[in-house]
Parts: sequence; C-alpha cells; structure tokens
Amino acid sequence: MRVKKVCVIGSGTMGAGIAQVSAQAGYETTMVDIRQEFLDRGMDKIKASLGKFVEKEKIKQEEMKEALARLRTSVDMKDGAKDADYVVEAVFERAEVKLLIFEQLEEICPKETILASNTSGIPISLLASATRRADKVIGAHFMNPVPLMKGVEIVRSLLTSEESVKVTLDFVKSLGKEPVVVKDSPGFVANRIYMLTVNEAAKLLEEGAGRIEDMDKLMRLSFNWPMGPFELADLIGIDVIVDLLEGIYKQTGWERYKPTPLLKRMVEIGYTGRKTGKGFYQLFAQG
Ligand code: NAI
Repeated sequence: MRVKKVCVIGSGTMGAGIAQVSAQAGYETTMVDIRQEFLDRGMDKIKASLGKFVEKEKIKQEEMKEALARLRTSVDMKDGAKDADYVVEAVFERAEVKLLIFEQLEEICPKETILASNTSGIPISLLASATRRADKVIGAHFMNPVPLMKGVEIVRSLLTSEESVKVTLDFVKSLGKEPVVVKDSPGFVANRIYMLTVNEAAKLLEEGAGRIEDMDKLMRLSFNWPMGPFELADLIGIDVIVDLLEGIYKQTGWERYKPTPLLKRMVEIGYTGRKTGKGFYQLFAQG
C-alpha cells in the first residue's frame, strides 16, 4: 500500500510535530483536534518551526510554503480521517481517550487504513482491541521535538501484520527518520530503559549522593550522553515521567518502576520541568 494521505489526531506538542514532518515529506496531511484554537496553536508552532529551518538555511522559503499548502486542519475527525491511508493518533496519554478514538477511527476509515499511535506506553494490543483490524494497529513512537529527533520506536503487537510494519517503516523513513522495531513490552524499550535511570538518579539525589550538576556531568563525560538524566528529565517533564513510571509499574508490578517520592513531590508543587520554568535545576542546582 502506498501512503498518500495522512491524518494526525491531536495538535499538541507531538501531533503538530508529526503533522509538520509529514507535510514536509510531501503527504497531504490533516491535523485534527477538538477545538479550532488548539489547531491554530498547533499551526503557529509548525510555522515557527519551519521558519527556524528557513532561517538556518536547512530548507528554502519555497519548501516552507509548499509544506504549509499540504496541511489542513479540522475539528471533525470524520472529515480528517475518512480518506486517510495512514493515521497517527497523538492525543493525551490516557487509555480511555485513546480507546474511544480508535473505536471511532475503526468506523470512519477505509478498511486498509493503518492506525498508528504515538503513545509512550499504553499497550498497542489494548488500543487494537477497540478495532476490528488489530493487524493494522501499530505504535509509532516519535520523539520530542519531532522535527529534530531522528529516532522513532515502532511497536508491533502480537497481531500487527508484517505488511503494516513494512508500510510504517517506509513511511517513517520517508520522513527522514530512523525507525527501530520493538515488541509491545510494558513501556516498550526506550522508556523502559530511561525511566529506570531517571528514577534511580532521583533516588541518588534523595540520598544526597551528589549534586545534580555533577551527576549529569558524570553521565555526559563517562558514557558520552549528550544530556545528563536530570537535564533530560526537566526537558521531558517530571509529570510525564511519573505517569510513565506508574504505567509500567501498573503493568508489571516491578517495584523498581515505582516513582520515587521525590518525583511525586516535585509534581505536587508544580516543579514539572522546563515547560513551567521550574524543575530539578531550579530546585536543586547549587550553581
Ligand atoms: P499534548 O497535551 O501536547 O497534546 C494532546 C492534544 O490532543 C491536545 O491538543 C488535545 O486537545 C488533543 N486531543 C485530546 N483529545 C482529543 C480528541 N478526542 N480528538 C482530537 N484531539 C484530541 O500532548 P503531547 O505531549 O503531544 O502527547 C501526545 C502523545 O504523544 C501522548 O500519547 C504522549 O504520551 C506521546 N508522547 C509525548 C512525548 C512528549 O515529549 N511530549 C514524547 C513521545 C510521545
């Protein structure tokens, strides 16, 4: 199957990024959200991001115009998804919200349409259970910020077909990304590894094992990480990290994924990272 039309559900941080790279790669792309103002905000983000690429001479002004011309927005999922070959769902990380969307997509989309989710950790098999096409449901876990990050974790459930994996790999590669296929394990792979690291880093901080600047520096210089665990946690968002850890803990019962109290306390006092201007570095850095 050749993908021509793409529909992205959700125009937040991830949805806008995915719609942008899809339009840049030449696909007719419709971005769907529940309110026009959310879509307008998403479009503003896309314009700003494309503008930066033009400024840095990574793309030409003409390419920006063409990408924007391929983008459409809609508050009506039926209108956006009815003739899409490939749908990427990127709404809130809440299973009940996503399940409802997959149920609706099953009714709206042609039977060949592949339904991908950008979920960070909700099982793909669970999302597939809301449809009658489990073979065409797959995870396409893009990374933030989408226009810049190359990696995409492709998650296949026990029922995802070879053909859906192939179409997804071709699609993701055509966006200039590097897909990696993994199984539908709890938390998949990227977050299973990183979430454990950040939980342990927070435990070390609770123990007073070191200063956050030093612990980050140690990881950068010892293991060639571009960012330390605390810097990355502030970028991702402490609330997102707590949700992901709790999600993996709920699925596995493994104590090591229980968010350490410090992470929960930080969320309770609104220290959720860069997006609020308050995170590990504002609370603990000694300068
Ligand atoms: P966000 O909160 O920025 O955006 C979610 C958007 O979905 C909002 O604009 C909301 O209005 C919209 N939405 C909610 N219900 C809807 C519905 N029924 N129909 C259409 N639109 C609806 O969320 P974000 O950060 O973009 O996350 C989206 C997904 O991507 C989540 O599953 C998250 O786990 C995943 N993800 C997030 C990453 C991040 O760093 N933010 C990284 C990788 C994955």
